[in-house]
Amino acid sequence: MTCCSLLFRRKRSTELDEEVSDIQNVNLYTYKELQIATEGFSPANKIGQGGFGPVYKGKLRNDTLAAMKVLSADSRQGVREFLTEIKVITSIEHENLVKLYGCCAEGKHRILVYEYLENNSLAQTLLGGSHSSIQFSWHSRRNICIGVARGLVFLHEEVKPQIIHRDIKASNILLDKNLQPKISDFGLAKLIPPNLTHISTHVAGTAGYLAPEYAIRHQVTRKSDVYSFGILLLEIVSGRSNTNRRLPVEEQYLVTRAWNLYETGELEKLVDALLVGDFNVEEACRFCKVGLLCAQDSPKLRPSMSTVLDMLLGETDVNDQYMEKPGLLFDFDDDHDPGKQKMKAEVENTSFFGGSGKQDVSTSSETVTSYGAMTFTSIYDRTN
Ligand SMILES: Nc1ncnc2c1ncn2[C@@H]1O[C@H](COP(=O)(O)OP(=O)(O)OP(=O)(O)O)[C@@H](O)[C@H]1O
Ligand SMILES: [Mg+2]
Repeated sequence: MTCCSLLFRRKRSTELDEEVSDIQNVNLYTYKELQIATEGFSPANKIGQGGFGPVYKGKLRNDTLAAMKVLSADSRQGVREFLTEIKVITSIEHENLVKLYGCCAEGKHRILVYEYLENNSLAQTLLGGSHSSIQFSWHSRRNICIGVARGLVFLHEEVKPQIIHRDIKASNILLDKNLQPKISDFGLAKLIPPNLTHISTHVAGTAGYLAPEYAIRHQVTRKSDVYSFGILLLEIVSGRSNTNRRLPVEEQYLVTRAWNLYETGELEKLVDALLVGDFNVEEACRFCKVGLLCAQDSPKLRPSMSTVLDMLLGETDVNDQYMEKPGLLFDFDDDHDPGKQKMKAEVENTSFFGGSGKQDVSTSSETVTSYGAMTFTSIYDRTN
């Protein structure tokens, strides 16, 4: 490492620490308090593990249950996301967004304290195989899809400045005791400055949910979230993950499978077999079509989240007249396919050029610079 880059890194480190010690308008918990709440961060209270550290269940002094996300002490990227999460989520409130009770930023400790959601995440309960005892009826799946769509309409169209979440996926949809969904994890979120058409940024998010134009050209718009929502919608209806390499090749990618069934007029076959036919066929096929529309390759062909919500509610017809085959980023680790290699190289370039940690927020007329979140390389690691 050169002397210059070392100095730059130190500066960024100090700036982040200063920002952390400057946190305002948020409940601050002491480390001791959270240690007591989680019985010394006991393994028995561990409820999950994400890319940035373990999550513990705990009881706060007022007897409220909480989930505590402990960021690993030496992760600079984690600190950036820690700050973004606090900035974004403390200023907004919606029944389909998780609540942040506060945080702990004492010494090297960085802990986020959230409302505790009894039924964990969709990734664990719906897509987690046989580990969960929850039966997801068609009615509850429908409610979950509509609730997540409502949360996204709020972020994209109702708050000012508008927010792109950038990491919509099954593990970031938490469920309360009544299976009402709450969108979580705002660490990668971007506030959209007024009058900007798109934000050019380092690619962040999770493979399988990434919109093609975002992964390849690094342009993030609300339509990138719409793409991820489309994939999630298909997962909720079908009860399977977007990629499953244990299936026959033609079925491995959920969105391709959905498209093939759409073309043959058999979309109802995509619906989770666990429902044993107990669902509204017209509605389920409509949800699948909405998923396919959201996952269109061209962002222009994807509907806005308010249109998506209206289509899910049956208040607007699903116009599939111009629907094309959805966009899909194939497996990045397939070194034998030249087309895939090209995509891999482009994405690798993103992380290479991302060394400074900077990103451009641009329109045709102006360029604003802010800090990036994470590179594709790290996303790639997180999904393996
Ligand atoms: N507020 C909460 N209430 C209950 N469980 C939670 C809560 N927050 C997180 N969890 C559990 O902890 C797990 C880990 O969450 P976390 O957000 O750290 O990682 P992730 O979403 O699984 O992965 P990634 O690091 O890629 O975002 C979740 O999947 C969920 O099971
Ligand atoms: Mg998460």
